[in-house]
Amino acid sequence: MNYKRIKGTQDILPEAGIVWQDIESIIRKIMDIFNYREIRTPVFEQTALFARGIGQLTDIVSKEMYTFQDKGKKSLTLKPEMTAPVIRAYLENNLSAQSSLSKLYYLSPLFRQENPQAGRLRQFHQFGAEAIGVKSPHLDAEIIMLAMQIYQALGISRLDLRMNSVGTPQSRRDYTTALKKYFKPLLSEYCKECNQRFQINPLRILDCKNKTCQQLNQKAPKMLDFLETESLDHFNLVKSLLDINAVPYRIAPHLVRGLDYYTDTVFEITSTQLGAQDAICGGGRYDLLAEQLGGKPTPAVGFASGIERLLMVMEAQNLIRTNERTLDVYLCLLGDKASGQGMFWTQQLRSAGFKVDRDYQQRSLKAQMRDANKQQARIVLLLGEDELGKQIFTVKDMNAGIQTSVPFSEIISYLKKQPG
Ligand code: HAM
Repeated sequence: MNYKRIKGTQDILPEAGIVWQDIESIIRKIMDIFNYREIRTPVFEQTALFARGIGQLTDIVSKEMYTFQDKGKKSLTLKPEMTAPVIRAYLENNLSAQSSLSKLYYLSPLFRQENPQAGRLRQFHQFGAEAIGVKSPHLDAEIIMLAMQIYQALGISRLDLRMNSVGTPQSRRDYTTALKKYFKPLLSEYCKECNQRFQINPLRILDCKNKTCQQLNQKAPKMLDFLETESLDHFNLVKSLLDINAVPYRIAPHLVRGLDYYTDTVFEITSTQLGAQDAICGGGRYDLLAEQLGGKPTPAVGFASGIERLLMVMEAQNLIRTNERTLDVYLCLLGDKASGQGMFWTQQLRSAGFKVDRDYQQRSLKAQMRDANKQQARIVLLLGEDELGKQIFTVKDMNAGIQTSVPFSEIISYLKKQPG
């Protein structure tokens, strides 16, 4: 075969598909309990939406986007994240007219041209939620508790929630100045990349994974010391709401997120079972994004969580259960005539709501029974010359090992009476 999947992408084969479906249905259930409603946005958007929304200097926009020109020479980008598209859709469809608060959630594939490694893909999937339209610390806390309740429902434990506040653009500017003052005399000890970051976006130095840089960062000034009163009050309220609800967290004074739209609360949830790419979830408040995109001032807060990383944690914690695949009925068709009637009976039973499959290859009775066993059929209906003559099915109950005959006309009511 000449074709391979693109580096950093994955096929989700049927066995894994079942696991994904289970996880997705738990996510949807908890989102519903919290009264968040699903939003789906297109896979691609105007490039400017992300450049403007996420920030030109971020890693995502400067080097990771899948950007291309369409035939009309428009620059389009496969969405690398959902927050900017959700706000675009919120503004474009005037959702604020429906309600002062929009609580939205999503499950979506996303695209980032990163160097693939364990837990870092080029096409990955996120679920996430955004509460748009109201500024309340209760929503910051709700968003965090929503993520936590989903992890809890999935059985995941030993997660680490770290929080910080990045304040307003003004306080962040003051903080950046203080940071630069701190970094400058130490630059020769920082890695090459951090030296570049110093020029472009010094805050990102705090995010460096290099051990020496991390060591040096320990004594760097803390954002919390630069917050304006309003930001500090907001942050304290979020913390007290988490305390009241017994949600454990740590203050991470150097947590800065890799996207520029955040104001006030930011948080990340990590797992020690993930290696280098340890963030399972990230989020925060982004009160200025709507305005940056040309809308009216609209406060908002949200989170997003990588599903592939979630799966890795679930695997490490032995939480992956593949439900056994079973069939209600397997139709064994013996001989040309029976085979000819196979589709009719399969369809009759399927229309009645039974999960049914059959032989399509005119195989021997032995081979068909082997297939029925493999597919874990509860009941096998045998249809051969004999049965056709008498207008009956030979019915084998595979669990009880009992065999009986049932007339064609009674087969559906007979099957309905069998224990599920
Ligand atoms: P983010 O931190 O870029 O935030 O991504 C959130 C999560 O997506 C990460 O914690 C990780 O689990 C997963 N993720 C990110 N990149 C990859 C990748 N290349 N491969 C696999 N998983 C990945 C955002 O996207 C923000 N939009 C979150 C947000 C929502 N903030 C407010 N609302």
